[in-house]
Amino acid sequence: MTFSRNILITGGAGFIGSHVVRLFVEKYPDYRIVNVDKLTYAGNLENLRDVAQRPNYIFVKADICDHERMNELMRRYAVDGIIHLAAESHVDRSILDPFAFARTNVMGTLSLLQAAKVYWESQPEKYAGKRFYHISTDEVYGALELSRPQGGADGHGPYGDELFTETTRYTPHSPYSASKASSDHFVRAFHDTYGMPTIVTNCSNNYGPNQFPEKLIPLCIDNIRHGKPLPVYGKGENVRDWLYVEDHARAIDTIFHRGRIAQTYNIGGNNEWRNIDIVELIVETVDRLSGNPEGYSEQLITFVPDRAGHDLRYAIDSSKLHTELGWAPAVRFEEGIEKTVRWYLDNQEWTDRITSGQYKEYYRRMYGE
Ligand code: NAD
Ligand code: DAU
Repeated sequence: MTFSRNILITGGAGFIGSHVVRLFVEKYPDYRIVNVDKLTYAGNLENLRDVAQRPNYIFVKADICDHERMNELMRRYAVDGIIHLAAESHVDRSILDPFAFARTNVMGTLSLLQAAKVYWESQPEKYAGKRFYHISTDEVYGALELSRPQGGADGHGPYGDELFTETTRYTPHSPYSASKASSDHFVRAFHDTYGMPTIVTNCSNNYGPNQFPEKLIPLCIDNIRHGKPLPVYGKGENVRDWLYVEDHARAIDTIFHRGRIAQTYNIGGNNEWRNIDIVELIVETVDRLSGNPEGYSEQLITFVPDRAGHDLRYAIDSSKLHTELGWAPAVRFEEGIEKTVRWYLDNQEWTDRITSGQYKEYYRRMYGE
């Protein structure tokens, strides 16, 4: 079978990556999608069970830091496009073990950039028709003021006047965001120095099915199910801008195909929520969908010591993406939360298999290792 494009997606077994892989495999049967993932604790191939047998999908277990392996994969699959999502992604883990974040997020990105450079420069057409698309985070911009603590008219955002734009100065605070900032700079440097066709996007907090249960929303859903405390850092007043994961995947599709080279695009939900309000919304939704009496799980909400260096407020201005490429979020937050809670309640064994460690068995069964 010949393919019109050969696209390498890194981190495709993770939360966002699995939604991007699924979208591309289903929407572009004439593209070959090569999913390269190391399968760290966060990688779960069960996320892609439904597309695993498609003729245009290949899974390769590999570490992006293994530079020789990346060189070999570029050649073997004649890669002409890269969508790079592989990363250590959890802020709390970065506070405990920053080295893992420097290794994968900085050195891994550099390893992949260099492999793309070597392979593409060896081709007669060089960089023509190629694309290196790096997925990054709004956390590189630091934190915004919480100048309107009561929020807007609907009781939620905006919680301040300022928003992150594509020209906001980088001011990362956590080891995670410092490592992502560094990787963003390397990607831009490869454009500026070698002419590599790169794009960077910085996105706000994603939520939806298949998110690893260490992150706030799936953690709370699972803890309610087990009657465990819902840990709210500090006073729960920190604000995040939430986006449904399929909206992010759609933005990535749009930008990969139509975004301008050497540009940065911000992606956000225009949807600011205080953490405490989200936790209360989850409590209400889980109780209602589980048939519990109203307020049943409220007493699980527990204020705990704050995260070190906890950024107060993130809020994204994604008007550039909207004006240039016509993208806008399609899923309203209340609808997205309802879908997400339903998914976790209907797929309890997905989380249980993570908690018990059984999710790692799937790879061994499928790929015989
Ligand atoms: P995730 O932790 O769910 O998945 C990361 C994936 O990368 C896993 O499958 C893991 O096995 C793989 N991986 C880790 N190290 C690797 C290595 N050395 N080599 C190969 N694969 C490796 O992460 P996510 O939440 O899906 O985030 C994906 C990307 O999007 C990250 O780059 C993250 O910084 C960025 N991002 C995430 C969010 C969010 O809200 N989750 C928001 C904006 C940007
Ligand atoms: O903004 C984009 C970023 O969003 C991504 O780049 C990161 O990869 C992703 O993990 C996410 O980072 P956050 O730190 O914002 O996500 P998390 O789900 O860990 O936390 C959301 C908020 O909830 C944050 O203010 C910390 C708080 N929190 C988190 C946990 C896990 C709690 O209050 N209690 C918790 O137990």
